[in-house]
Amino acid sequence: MARIDVEKAIEELTLGEKVALTAGRDFWHTESVPRLNIPALRMSDGPNGVRGTRFFNGIPAACFPCATALGATWDTELLSEVGALMGEEAIAKGTHVVLGPTINTQRSPLGGRGFESFSEDGVLSGTLAGYFCKAMQEKGVAATLKHFVCNDQEHERLAVSSILTNRALREIYLMPFQLAMRICRSQCIMTAYNKVNGTHVSENKAIIDDILRKEWGWEGVVMSDWFGTYSTSDAIVAGLDIEMPGKTRWRGEALAHAVSSNKVAQYQLDERVRNILNLVNWVEPLGIPEGAPEKALNRPEDQALMRRAAAESVVLLKNEGDILPLKKDGSLLVIGPNAKIAAYCGGGSASLAPYYTVTPFDGVSAKSKGEVKYSQGVYSHKDLPLLGPLLKTADGKPGFTFKVYNEHPNSGEDRQAVDELHLLESSGFLMDYVNPKVKSMTYYVDMEGTFTPEESGVYNFGVTVVGTGQLLIDGEVVVDNTKNQKQGSAFFGTATIEEIGTKELKAGQTYKVLFQFGSAPTSDLDTRGIVAFGPGGFRFGASRQVGQEELIANAVEQAKTAEQVVIFAGLTLEWETEGHDREHMDLPPGSDELISRVLEVNPNAVVMIQSGTPVTMPWADNAKALVQAWFGGNECGSGIADVLYGDVNPSAKLPITFPRRLQDNPSYLNFRSERGRVLYGEDIYVGYRYFEKSDVAPGFAFGHGLSYTSFSRSDLRIDTVPEQTKYTESGEPVTASVTVSNTGSVAGAEIVQLWIVPPKTDVGRPVRELKAFQKVFLQPGETKTVQLVVEKKLATSWWDEEREQWISEEGTYQVLVTGTGAEELHGEFEVGKTRFWLGL
Ligand code: BGC
Repeated sequence: MARIDVEKAIEELTLGEKVALTAGRDFWHTESVPRLNIPALRMSDGPNGVRGTRFFNGIPAACFPCATALGATWDTELLSEVGALMGEEAIAKGTHVVLGPTINTQRSPLGGRGFESFSEDGVLSGTLAGYFCKAMQEKGVAATLKHFVCNDQEHERLAVSSILTNRALREIYLMPFQLAMRICRSQCIMTAYNKVNGTHVSENKAIIDDILRKEWGWEGVVMSDWFGTYSTSDAIVAGLDIEMPGKTRWRGEALAHAVSSNKVAQYQLDERVRNILNLVNWVEPLGIPEGAPEKALNRPEDQALMRRAAAESVVLLKNEGDILPLKKDGSLLVIGPNAKIAAYCGGGSASLAPYYTVTPFDGVSAKSKGEVKYSQGVYSHKDLPLLGPLLKTADGKPGFTFKVYNEHPNSGEDRQAVDELHLLESSGFLMDYVNPKVKSMTYYVDMEGTFTPEESGVYNFGVTVVGTGQLLIDGEVVVDNTKNQKQGSAFFGTATIEEIGTKELKAGQTYKVLFQFGSAPTSDLDTRGIVAFGPGGFRFGASRQVGQEELIANAVEQAKTAEQVVIFAGLTLEWETEGHDREHMDLPPGSDELISRVLEVNPNAVVMIQSGTPVTMPWADNAKALVQAWFGGNECGSGIADVLYGDVNPSAKLPITFPRRLQDNPSYLNFRSERGRVLYGEDIYVGYRYFEKSDVAPGFAFGHGLSYTSFSRSDLRIDTVPEQTKYTESGEPVTASVTVSNTGSVAGAEIVQLWIVPPKTDVGRPVRELKAFQKVFLQPGETKTVQLVVEKKLATSWWDEEREQWISEEGTYQVLVTGTGAEELHGEFEVGKTRFWLGL
């Protein structure tokens, strides 16, 4: 790749070439123009790892803790380290542009992708995103803030119009983007699927051109979300530079025609092309050639960082009687559905094949010097556990063969496989599976292996497909998911529900398993309103039928006499995933009963929940020790064990409010698409802003998190600079200095939080708003002075819809400084004169 003379190239490019540059070439690449040495760029998801070019059968990658986990660290330095490693991971995957971070806002605990965004609060989310992007871009890799803006639910995500006031748009939903950009101008922005107040964002001039480009002065590339372009001229004119993915649906000939007929002016097309060529130049120093091979890094120092990130994200919610940390030389009973599975990431485009994973059970077993016992308690899967890892190929390897054919199994023709793979996971989304020998989108795959059950009994077998699928055991059809298919939620909401069949099997006997799959066009499911992601996907699973009572009773019996007990419950990528919101806030069936009954017989049992977003905890008052972990990436189990055994002192704080009940959350009345729109009825009162204003007690508040040590805060001092007539870019810092001491007996980190309480005015304002935060590490007895700086205009302003400007009103503003524990320090500063402003 050599640098391009952008203006010269714009003169030399033909209309056809310019048009081609404005759309993807395939799922993960932009278009090239070899004649002018303009290369294709590679893009890759995403928020918690860099997957590379293959969803299906991809090269393994580092999986970082999900964004709510990183949000819980409140640690800008850690986010910089994570961003830098993400940049290196991108380079290893030959990627120029990373499709992340995600900084939408968790209006509701139910958002299917809530786990992908850092926080319900724009200051926390935007600041962390800014440092993450800065470090990644310092490695030369372009970051993409997404999804711009108000993609805060999955229900009808392409079609729904988010109806909200300009005040909420500015103060809540645009705020993370604005603040991230103040720290780092990300090279790319991805538009949201949805409409905002009636117009799809990908063709919304008011949002792309007026706010992003003109008001914020941002000059990067705007790309659509995948299949989120819905027009030719409107999108180009509004400023959507690239339609993704390819092949184009809206550009190509349609755009050439629009330019020829002057629906799109030549200069407008040139503006799009200029942005794209500037991006090509920006990533040029990476020296990544077209079609670069994809490699795995997986270095020891990266594993150490992932482990630190996982541990630093674990939030200690309760610890009555100092039950935690656990004693290493004591024995331990591990109970629960999440103990022996690694809930390492959420579902959808955030998911990827990890280098490796560590389950919580593995994590605690590696640390305990005493006996570690295990009882399942209940299962938490939504669909049956994958059967693939339990199968064996003809030559005895774990897994199964995957043979691809152009012809239907019953075509009568002599079928020749056009590809043969060996797979372990019996779940695959084929959208980016490329094979030149496959003649059309309609093709067939036979997946074959043998299964030798360890226990006799009746087994359930399940099949979920985007396409059609039949599961045969020893030639007998056990599950037929080819006809009368019903819409389900897997694979971005494009798959059928899981069809289940049963068969009695004998322990030790070997059965031949054949799964026959037909790609998406073989299905007659009516998928109107759902984006078709290529040739489809498959999933098949199995488990022996066992009574829940039997499992719970076993766990309870063992818990009665156990010395130390930890229950691992929570959600997985099946429950929190893209294309589908959660239906309720509860744990999977049986988990609450398990936890309650174990706590009855052993009140000291520690409850550890893994989820990306809040769950209801009806037993919370009875739990003395309660811990929230998230989808913690490769090292999730080790990070959890580090905290449980006290090798890491927990310092994380909740980045989102945990309501007691779903009904208590402010979006309860308005969280789905109804007749094409969703009303953001809670306005600016999202998350803690609502709970504090209406005095509704949350289960656990935003910012809450305990430590194994204690801290004190004192000597708050506020310094300001003289006010100018107008707010300027250089700003007017308000600096809060505070003394923080570790008053306990173990080392630990404190997160100091600075809030502003506005003066009374004639508009409604939140009780207080977070404006700055700082993490500080202290040895026992150590004291440090921490400085928190916030610009006066950002500390004080709200969005005035009458003037369509930010207003910073005159008056006295209180400063609150908080941290672990209830102690609050108070200070104040003045705004002498009301001022209005626009910009970043
Ligand atoms: C998601 C994006 C993602 C893209 C590519 C879409 O479904 O909304 O966040 O980057 O797919 O995987």
